[in-house]
Amino acid sequence: MRVAVLNGVNLDVLHRRDPDVYGGLSLNQLETQIYEWARELELLADCRQTNSEAEYVGWCHDALDWAGGVIVNPGAWSHYSYAIHDALELFAVPVVEVHLSNVDEREDWRRNSVIADLAAARVIGKGPSGYREALEFLAERT
Ligand code: DQA
Repeated sequence: MRVAVLNGVNLDVLHRRDPDVYGGLSLNQLETQIYEWARELELLADCRQTNSEAEYVGWCHDALDWAGGVIVNPGAWSHYSYAIHDALELFAVPVVEVHLSNVDEREDWRRNSVIADLAAARVIGKGPSGYREALEFLAERT
């Protein structure tokens, strides 16, 4: 099964963000881990990251044609992008929302996710291994 892993805004600079919050890993290291975990679970991951909301929405549309499951971490867009909400709403396959940090225990505005209602599962505050949990969730669904 092919899984789209769509990381959004500011996740390209993960290694520069507060290590106490984000763990200090680079996006490249994170994606390497995701590819390895996916292989172990006999999934085929396709990891992408962009800072352009339009591109992110375009990738969602693109994945409609091939993804058997979707993992999204839209970064700050999670908290306000109805455009991404509407793009994710098109999926008939499960969408898993992942956040590296515990958004429920940070600033108030991070507690609200406009995509939460569409998520088959949400994995929050587990760092990189949250992506593994999301992959496992999708692997069990097939
Ligand atoms: C994040 C949490 C968001 O609030 C933040 O804007 C991010 C990353 C996370 O993975 O913890 O950019 O999605």
